[in-house]
Amino acid sequence: ALERTLSIIKPDAVAKNVIGEILTRFEKADLKIVAAKMIQLSQEQAEGFYAEHKERPFFGDLVSFMTSGPVVVQVLEGDNAIAKNRELMGATNPQEAAAGTIRADFASSIDANAVHGSDSPASAEREVAYFFAADEITSR
Ligand code: CMP
Repeated sequence: ALERTLSIIKPDAVAKNVIGEILTRFEKADLKIVAAKMIQLSQEQAEGFYAEHKERPFFGDLVSFMTSGPVVVQVLEGDNAIAKNRELMGATNPQEAAAGTIRADFASSIDANAVHGSDSPASAEREVAYFFAADEITSR
C-alpha cells in the first residue's frame, strides 16, 4: 500500500556530513521525499516526540542526544514506506545492523544511531503530524 513515514536524520549523521548520502538511499529505494526541514529540537519537542519512552532508563540520554545539534526531519512516501525505511535503516543497535544498512554504515552507538523511522502506521501518522502541518507536505 502507498504509505507515508517519518524519517529523522539525527544529530550524529548531520555532524558527519552524510545528509545527502542518507537521502540518496531513500531515493534509490523509490521512496519520495514529500516534505523535509532542518530543525534544532527543543527539550520539550524531543520529550514529546519520544513520550512513549519516558519511563525507559535511556530517556534522558536520548533527549539530550536528540537536542545536541540540528536534525533533518522528512516525510517519505512510497509503496510499503514504513517497513521499507526500517529495512534501509537496519537494527536500532548499529552493532546488530545488517551490512549495507544506514546504521551499519553511518551509526556509532545505540544513541548516536544516525536515523529514526516510524515503526507502524499508527506511529507514522502521529510522528508525521508532530512535525509537519498538512500544507507542508507536498504530493507529486
Ligand atoms: P529511535 O528509533 O529514534 O527510537 C528511540 C531511540 O532510543 C532509539 O532509536 C535509540 O537511538 C535510543 N535508545 C537508546 N537505548 C536504547 C535501548 N536500549 N533500546 C531501544 N532504543 C534505545
